[in-house]
Amino acid sequence: MADQQYPMGIKEVGTSFSVATHMIRHEDINGYNRLFGGRLMEWIDDVAGIAARRHAGIDITTAAIDTLEFKSPAWLNDIVIIEAWVTHVGNTSMEVRADSYVEDPATGERTMINHAYLTEVCVGPDGHPTPVPWGLVATNDEQRAECIAARKRAENRKVRRSQGF
Ligand SMILES: CC(C)(COP(=O)(O)OP(=O)(O)OC[C@H]1O[C@@H](n2cnc3c(N)ncnc32)[C@H](O)[C@@H]1OP(=O)(O)O)[C@@H](O)C(=O)NCCC(=O)NCCS
Repeated sequence: MADQQYPMGIKEVGTSFSVATHMIRHEDINGYNRLFGGRLMEWIDDVAGIAARRHAGIDITTAAIDTLEFKSPAWLNDIVIIEAWVTHVGNTSMEVRADSYVEDPATGERTMINHAYLTEVCVGPDGHPTPVPWGLVATNDEQRAECIAARKRAENRKVRRSQGF
């Protein structure tokens, strides 16, 4: 179902769902054997970009990362899972949510270590923003609630940006 704003039609939230799995190695830790925050940010940026490209189908770039909360540490040899998916589509930008967990391999139990929202912008061949070709549709109540919250966050970001933050 194509409309004027989204000429290619609509994609479901699940289409963009992307997962990255890492085992924390020596090169990923700081002097206290904890996962280096910058490494986790790199991993988050990577999988969030994949989610955004899966939705948009064209080139994207990261414009901003906000609400990047480090909730709990991760340690050498821990297994880190990062799940990312598109939660909102604006004109040229998308919001991607990225949740990071440490998974206990013995039980499968997950502990959230980070929660982040990224703004990814579609760019044309000239490197300038270009409209997101696809709209977004939520397919369950949890996704619908997240999309409503994401729209509010996007509006708040525009206000903050207009104020120079
Ligand atoms: C991202 C980039 C293309 C945006 O270009 P711009 O001319 O500032 O774009 P605009 O002001 O037209 O904004 C484009 C969209 O992005 C959003 N946006 C841009 N900067 C934003 C920010 N800092 N925070 C939140 N949203 C932002 C706008 O709200 C707009 O959304 P909409 O079209 O859905 O309404 C440009 O700033 C850029 O190339 N930055 C470098 C990106 C990069 O290299 N990232 C890799 C990490 S180094």
